Amino acid sequence: MTVKVGIIGMGFMGRMHLSAYRKLPGVEVVAFADTDASKRAGTAGGAGNLGDTDFQTDVASFQQIYDCGFALVDDPDIDLVDICVPTCDHKDLFLAAVAARKHVLSEKPMAVDPDDVKAMVAAGKKAKTVVMIAHCIRFWPAYVLLKECVDTQRYGACKSLILRRQGSKGLWSPWYFEAAVSGGALYDLHVHDTDYVNFLFGKPRAVSSVGSRGGTTDEGVDHVVTHYYFPKRTVEAVTAIGAWHQHKTWPFYMGYTAVFERATLDFDINRPQPVMLYTDEAATAIDVAPTDGWFEEIKYMVQCVTQGEPPALNTIASARVTMKIVQAEERSIRSGKVEKVK
Ligand SMILES: NC(=O)c1ccc[n+]([C@@H]2O[C@H](COP(=O)([O-])OP(=O)(O)OC[C@H]3O[C@@H](n4cnc5c(N)ncnc54)[C@H](O)[C@@H]3O)[C@@H](O)[C@H]2O)c1
Repeated sequence: MTVKVGIIGMGFMGRMHLSAYRKLPGVEVVAFADTDASKRAGTAGGAGNLGDTDFQTDVASFQQIYDCGFALVDDPDIDLVDICVPTCDHKDLFLAAVAARKHVLSEKPMAVDPDDVKAMVAAGKKAKTVVMIAHCIRFWPAYVLLKECVDTQRYGACKSLILRRQGSKGLWSPWYFEAAVSGGALYDLHVHDTDYVNFLFGKPRAVSSVGSRGGTTDEGVDHVVTHYYFPKRTVEAVTAIGAWHQHKTWPFYMGYTAVFERATLDFDINRPQPVMLYTDEAATAIDVAPTDGWFEEIKYMVQCVTQGEPPALNTIASARVTMKIVQAEERSIRSGKVEKVK
């Protein structure tokens, strides 16, 4: 059986997802939808902050091209709907795709509006199909390695973790600059690390955050620093920094420093040897699989669809917890206090 995919939104992420599907057997992207005529004509240039963005979409290879995502959802030939539109439009397309009994992959964050999140969670939990939010860091090789080290205690218990993700204010689409649409760096960029903290250690009991507003978006949190509070036996100190108010020539950065009892594991995406292990005796470069989180996430999604299994690695319930943590971070920035994750 070939899984037939329709992508809604052929911008940065739509194109990254398209190239991932095209590397996989047993799956075909048969359609896409985009409200922008230049995307439908295949004349728009590439954009994005990471990955091979410099290719034209070969529109002649699709069976159908729609100017409306809901029309794609109604296409009976499509098994899997992949939602890559601006964040404010996730909810309505997600609900429609779940109601049409499609398998659904929706880009992160679920939504900025808490009511939209609630509606998506309710629909996602009832779905009989495979439904997943695209929290790709769970699948990114350097982060897969860290998860393994935490779970197996290969270097002893993890004592502390610093996560850092910083982009420039030179974002590629105008909707990113409206906080009500993108959620600012807190909801759009930093959410990757929030989700990863949730994946690694589960739901923190509380968070304390400070933030800077409006450096890039109109009024969103464009720089955030969060401490996540866990029981001491889980991990002693976890901090994440997320920001996209660096100036335009800033190179995209993601990385972490994880201190275990017997070694420090460090990832810096911009270093010639991105993953390093430091002990008291030696500094060693660690090779990780030459792949990326987008490809691995889509491979996993297609595998779940093909095998008829719900995605254990990235459930709707877990994505809901991630949104609760981000919402607590936002409350903490406003209140200046430690906030419980409700
Ligand atoms: N997982 C990641 O690493 C990652 C990275 C970047 C963006 N994202 C997320 O992916 C989503 C898309 O971001 P992007 O950078 O690809 O944006 P983009 O602006 O590059 O692309 C969005 C595309 O959707 C189209 N579009 C807008 N509204 C539409 C609608 N209602 N119906 C159909 N098409 C519509 C636009 O014309 C555009 O082509 C966002 O939710 C963003 O947060 C995730």
